[in-house]
Amino acid sequence: MMQMMEGSSTEQYSSEARLLLREFSHRINNEFTSAIGMISVVAGHVANSEAKAALAAVQDRLHSYARVHHALQMPEHNSRIDAAAYMRQLCRAVCSAKLNAKGIELLLVERKFQMDSERCWRLGLIVSELITNSARHAFRDHGGHIRVEFMPSTSVIKCRVTDNGTSKPVIRPGNGTNIITSLAKSLGGTIAQHFGPQGTTTILVFPAAIETKNLISVAG
Ligand SMILES: Nc1ncnc2c1ncn2[C@@H]1O[C@H](COP(=O)(O)OP(=O)(O)OP(=O)(O)O)[C@@H](O)[C@H]1O
Ligand SMILES: [Mg+2]
Repeated sequence: MMQMMEGSSTEQYSSEARLLLREFSHRINNEFTSAIGMISVVAGHVANSEAKAALAAVQDRLHSYARVHHALQMPEHNSRIDAAAYMRQLCRAVCSAKLNAKGIELLLVERKFQMDSERCWRLGLIVSELITNSARHAFRDHGGHIRVEFMPSTSVIKCRVTDNGTSKPVIRPGNGTNIITSLAKSLGGTIAQHFGPQGTTTILVFPAAIETKNLISVAG
C-alpha cells in the first residue's frame, strides 16, 4: 500500500520521489568520480609496475560500474526512445562491469522496438537484476552463457532471460525478487521464473503501451 502525507497529491508524491532519486543518483555519480580520481592520483605516485597495473584494473572496473549506473539512471524526461539501442548499451556496460572478468558470455538477441523512456528504464532495471543474478548464483568459477531476448509485438513485449548454470534445489526469494516483481507489476505485466539443473529461465510479459484509461488526468 502506498502511503501519502495529508494534503499531498499523487503528482506531488511522484515529484518528491523523483527528486530523492535524482539526489541519490547525483551522489553516487559524485562518489564514483571521487574514487576514480583518487586512484589516478595514487597511481601517479606509485613506481611499482604491478601495483600500477592493479590500480588501473580497479579504476577500469569502477568506470564500468559507473557506466552501468549511468545506463540505469531514471530518465529526466519521458519520451519515445529506441529500446533496442538502450538495451544494447546497458548489456555492454554490464558485460564489462560484471561478466567479462568471470568468463561469462552474454548474447543479446536484438529486435527493433520503441518504448517510453520511463518504462524502458524499468525494463532495464529488471534485466540488469536478472543478469546480475545469473552472474552471482548460476555459475561456479568456469563461466557460462546468458541469453537476453526481446520479442516485441504491437500489443505485448515479451522478454526472456536464460542461463545455462545451475541453481539450488530450494530457492529463497530475496530483495531482488521482490523488486523485479514490483517493477513487472508497474509495467502492467507478469514475471515467471523456472530454476532447474540446466539453468534458469525468466519470462517477463507486459503490454506494449500503458492503458490510458488508468492514467490520472492532470489537465483538469
Ligand atoms: N540465475 C540464477 N541461477 C541460480 N540461482 C538463482 C538465479 N537467480 C536467482 N537465483 C536464486 O534465487 C535466489 C533469490 O534471488 P534474489 O535476486 O531474490 O536474491 P539474491 O540475488 O540472493 O539477493 P539480492 O536481494 O541482492 O538480489 C538467489 O539467492 C539464488 O539462490
Ligand atoms: Mg538478486
